[in-house]
Amino acid sequence: MEMEKRRRRVCVTGAGGFVASWVVKLLLSKGFTVHGTVRDLGDDKNAHLIKLDGASDNLKLFKADLLDYDSLRSAIMGCDGVLHVACPVPTSEVLNPEAEILQPAINGTLNVLKASSEANVGRVVYVSSTAAVLQNPSWPRDRVKDESSWTDKEYIRAAKVWYILAKTEAESAAFEYGKQSGLDVVSVNPGYVLGPVMRPILIFSTMFLTKFVQGIYFDIVKGDSVPNKIFSLVDVRDLAQSILLLYEKPEAEGRYICTAHNVSTKELVETMRNLYPEFTYLDEMVECDSDHRTSSEKLQKLGWTYRRLEETLVDSIESFRDVGLI
Ligand SMILES: NC(=O)c1ccc[n+]([C@@H]2O[C@H](COP(=O)([O-])OP(=O)(O)OC[C@H]3O[C@@H](n4cnc5c(N)ncnc54)[C@H](OP(=O)(O)O)[C@@H]3O)[C@@H](O)[C@H]2O)c1
Repeated sequence: MEMEKRRRRVCVTGAGGFVASWVVKLLLSKGFTVHGTVRDLGDDKNAHLIKLDGASDNLKLFKADLLDYDSLRSAIMGCDGVLHVACPVPTSEVLNPEAEILQPAINGTLNVLKASSEANVGRVVYVSSTAAVLQNPSWPRDRVKDESSWTDKEYIRAAKVWYILAKTEAESAAFEYGKQSGLDVVSVNPGYVLGPVMRPILIFSTMFLTKFVQGIYFDIVKGDSVPNKIFSLVDVRDLAQSILLLYEKPEAEGRYICTAHNVSTKELVETMRNLYPEFTYLDEMVECDSDHRTSSEKLQKLGWTYRRLEETLVDSIESFRDVGLI
């Protein structure tokens, strides 16, 4: 009985964030005890967590920063598993990449892993990104990318795309740490994450769709053409399911791309226009080379399923209306 209870005690880092909130909600609904880390226990932006079903009995919040080892250690101690979701996701230009992104992403992940080793946890699921998969110039054109594709670190460092570099460095450091220490590390690589929000905060994911319905795509500067690029989307609730699946399936190993729909910008415009004709859409687009299609076959073989794109889009827009984001 005591063992069973301990197996079901899981730490979720950055618990108040968009993705992590859905992970916490899912875990509570399945009867897990959750240690959630937040940077500020008194901040209103985390208030939604304590209102989740089951939170009063089974959710304990810990104040922790990714760069403060002792704070992470306190949150992870006593847990059987760690779902490491926290990472800065920039929504504007990064002025000090080292401090704002690279350190929290890479050193922060290593801190989480070391604390997990110290607490003797059974498995860590690390939330990476397709950012760590896609920017690989040596991948054959026209071939859908799978888990064997890694973003080329030198290429992306030269391009100064710090978030992509940080996710790639952090994921490879996580696997290297696992190899050296024997800690069981599995990663999930989601594409663009959409879906309903629990709080009225503009973050990367919410900005994508709130801008999209104003006819602003990919932050294209005025005068430039919008590329009709192909990119991969996944619903935040399906991503949460994948994280739990990867935590629970003993046979899970290595990285898992988690994307549901490979769509072009034009297809997304058409789908949205059918659902919400009242918004502003842009039809002028240029065809472009960048093809960011990915395959989630490996995750699906483990039993992962996903919902239809229309459901994700409707639930996203309706939740934005509910919380006043649009
Ligand atoms: N959204 C996407 O489209 C997408 C796609 C692929 C991968 N991902 C990955 O998914 C994860 C969650 O992203 P999200 O979309 O849910 O973004 P989010 O809502 O901005 O969540 C990020 C979380 O990380 C926390 N955090 C940032 N820096 C921290 C630090 N130094 N110490 C402790 N916590 C820190 C934030 O805490 P505060 O609330 O205190 O800032 C927040 O809870 C990230 O690892 C991201 O790279 C997201």
